[in-house]
Amino acid sequence: MAKQRNTRKPAPSQRKTAKTWGGRFRQATHPLVEAYTLSLPIDRRLWREEIAASIAHARMLGRQRIIPRADANAIVRGLREIEREMAAGRFPWRDELEDIHTNVEARLAQKIGETAGRLHTARSRNDQVATDLRLYAKRACDRAETAIRSLQRALLTLAEANRRVVMPGYTHLQRAQPVLLAHHLLAYLEMLERDAERFHQARGRADALPLGSGALAGVPYPIDRRSVARELGFARLCENSMDAVADRDFVVDFIAAASLCMTHISRLAEEIILWSSAEFGLLTLPDGFATGSSIMPQKRNPDVAELARARTGRVAAQLQTVLAMLKALPLAYNRDLQEDKRAFFEAEDTLIETLDVFAAMTPELRFDAERARQAATANYALATDLADLLVRQGLPFRQAHEVIGRLVRYAEKQGKPFEELTPAEFRRFSPLFPEDAANLGLDAALRARSARGGTAPRRVAAALRRWRRKLET
Ligand code: ARG
Repeated sequence: MAKQRNTRKPAPSQRKTAKTWGGRFRQATHPLVEAYTLSLPIDRRLWREEIAASIAHARMLGRQRIIPRADANAIVRGLREIEREMAAGRFPWRDELEDIHTNVEARLAQKIGETAGRLHTARSRNDQVATDLRLYAKRACDRAETAIRSLQRALLTLAEANRRVVMPGYTHLQRAQPVLLAHHLLAYLEMLERDAERFHQARGRADALPLGSGALAGVPYPIDRRSVARELGFARLCENSMDAVADRDFVVDFIAAASLCMTHISRLAEEIILWSSAEFGLLTLPDGFATGSSIMPQKRNPDVAELARARTGRVAAQLQTVLAMLKALPLAYNRDLQEDKRAFFEAEDTLIETLDVFAAMTPELRFDAERARQAATANYALATDLADLLVRQGLPFRQAHEVIGRLVRYAEKQGKPFEELTPAEFRRFSPLFPEDAANLGLDAALRARSARGGTAPRRVAAALRRWRRKLET
């Protein structure tokens, strides 16, 4: 009863201002400052982490007899109620309370009265927000990894469905040597594999508990940080209280991994854009993933790929934002650090949305195998293979290259592909050419590239099987 009366009659510190630091101030915060410093619209996304961390902290305070056990229990019960309100979308958010932490604390006071004030014993918003964000970052790394795996699977399915499609491989965007489309697509699985690995490592570095560091110097209570870490699933403790509240390396790790992953997707996007043009004519976008033009009825535009390409810049920009935010910050906590969450969420959302839409679009891409094959042999794409033929007859590669160079110049002037040159014409450039030099086919050229990592069909088939096994488990 007594407690309930207390909640109705505000403490002196709450009369002028709802601020947690109200005691020190006589006048209310200027409205423009309220608006400028507000972080609630962004950090309310951390509500699950905020509640979990607060419950773990309260229980530890009770176990250690730092606060009465009964109070700890009341706090935990109140926090669970708040959690239910938030999950149901019934929580009365209050902007004037600045951030997620003070919103929870004020609501707790409405529910359990003055006892709520004990929750903030032996902690500060500085170690609290670092804890929340690390918890969040670990889960975000898991989400990113899962989304990457989905895109890998989608690309693998596409590669399997087109396992016999031959296309030109390019360097300098000039037709270079024929490759299997599947080989080209598997290159992206390798990139994405490194991305998944980077998120896994980022998760490992985020996996340390800041709570117990206080505002910056540690706390003067017999706390048990290990038990809090255990309850929250942290592998380690942050070992230096100042580093614990000032460190945002884990944010940089996440956004850096996201930037590079977006860069990989953007390269794929660029190829989809090129390949779906009439000039390349290698693939058709599925209806559901192409957009039309309001004026040119014939058009099928690759808007998804284009937006992914552009949004890659937005994610890279978040990396700049965080690095610039950190670079001249004195220890320990500074309000600048509040900007980390906006950058983190922006990078995360863009990455996940992009991975998801690509995973949905990729298996539906339709390749024109006929045209791809023609393009793969046109423009003397087998020139290197003819040179290799001479090398196998004993000619040093440099000389062979020179011979084929002259042969290409000659054939170009005649307006003939290699296949239409006679054995006599070949011999004019080198006596080492075998009788059937002109018959050197596309398939033989592919088969020949059988050294590990090459595009030979049996190598690619083995790689497809390897990836299928890996992604299935
Ligand atoms: N909203 C703040 C942030 O995101 C929480 C920590 C505030 N700490 C402080 N000393 N003002 O960083």
